[in-house]
Amino acid sequence: MTTTQPRLVVTPSANIHSDAERAARMSKLSFGRTFTDHMVVIPYRDGAWQQGEIKAYGPLSLDPSCSSLHYGQAIFEGFKAFGQPDGGVKTFRPQSNAERFNRSAKRLAMPALPPELFMQAADALITLERNWVPQNVGESLYMRPLMIATDPFLGVRPALEYLFVMFGSPAGAYFPKGVKPVTVWISEDFVRAAPGGTGEAKCAGNYAASLVAQAQAEQKGCDQVVWLDAVQREYVEEMGGMNLFFVYQQDGKTTLVTPELTGTLLPGITRDSLLQLGRDLGYGTVERKLSVKEWRDDIAAGRMTEVFACGTAAVITPVGFVKANGFELTINNGENGPVTMALREALLAIQHGTAPDAHGWMHAV
Ligand code: PLP
Ligand code: COI
Repeated sequence: MTTTQPRLVVTPSANIHSDAERAARMSKLSFGRTFTDHMVVIPYRDGAWQQGEIKAYGPLSLDPSCSSLHYGQAIFEGFKAFGQPDGGVKTFRPQSNAERFNRSAKRLAMPALPPELFMQAADALITLERNWVPQNVGESLYMRPLMIATDPFLGVRPALEYLFVMFGSPAGAYFPKGVKPVTVWISEDFVRAAPGGTGEAKCAGNYAASLVAQAQAEQKGCDQVVWLDAVQREYVEEMGGMNLFFVYQQDGKTTLVTPELTGTLLPGITRDSLLQLGRDLGYGTVERKLSVKEWRDDIAAGRMTEVFACGTAAVITPVGFVKANGFELTINNGENGPVTMALREALLAIQHGTAPDAHGWMHAV
């Protein structure tokens, strides 16, 4: 790996979207459908990251034999940029994404990208795309960094050449119905990740392998799939692209319980932030194993009062209904719960700059 920082050349192109097209797209944002005018590309070859470029957003040219297309040597990240009240732009914990990106890279035998280069690329791209950063609460410019293996070779071994790419997508609510409780299906037929596998890496294959279970959840009338541990098929791990929290109310005390990091679930940056924010709000926080039986029993006994999912794209989404082979449960009458919404507001206020950033999470672009 190179020790000197390669240069990032900015080649602004004519914008792909006219001002009117951009305004039209920004006025009705969903998730992941609109892409801004430029992207970052940085190649890796001869054992080093080469000069990168910010250029017009558009298709990549790949050799059909490259191993990302065959053997899945591909990783990605997701973080957000928020318009601030003073007209500036800040990103939420991008350094944590840069670090997780490199942990994923290591697991997939890919080269590390210097975190400073990740940050420099993000800041330069967001600065160029300032007009694509929404201002409304709940909206943001979602940034998608990724790395793929690119060298033409069919043998199974770590590639020698890679491409780092980063692009932006202005985003509104992840779920089409907005901030309303989702319904979840507990998967018994499929597992997401086994011990020693790639569960804690943000690699493309994890998502490909989840799609059939997600389709099954939809067949069962649910929005999302919940994964159980691969060994005992008993403990709750996470959702499709989100971590899970369970809210307990006992003896006047509120406690947030979230599955502990076992190596088979993604260590979410939102999860980590909410453990901190929960403590700030005076809640207890516990990271531990939580079984499906406890989920059933504790809802029935009224000890568990709310369940929610969290992630960069989804922010915080209440879970209102859970279904599995043999049982169905409604949580908090299928409504948004007060603890869920308090955490959501606290997180969004920090991100949008209307509450103090006590933990130094916001990075000025
Ligand atoms: N779990 C999975 C499988 C994910 O894809 C994501 C999304 O990034 C998360 C959890 C939440 O992680 P974060 O809060 O860092 O976005
Ligand atoms: C994110 O929240 O950033 C993700 O990558 C999750 C994905 C399912 C959209």
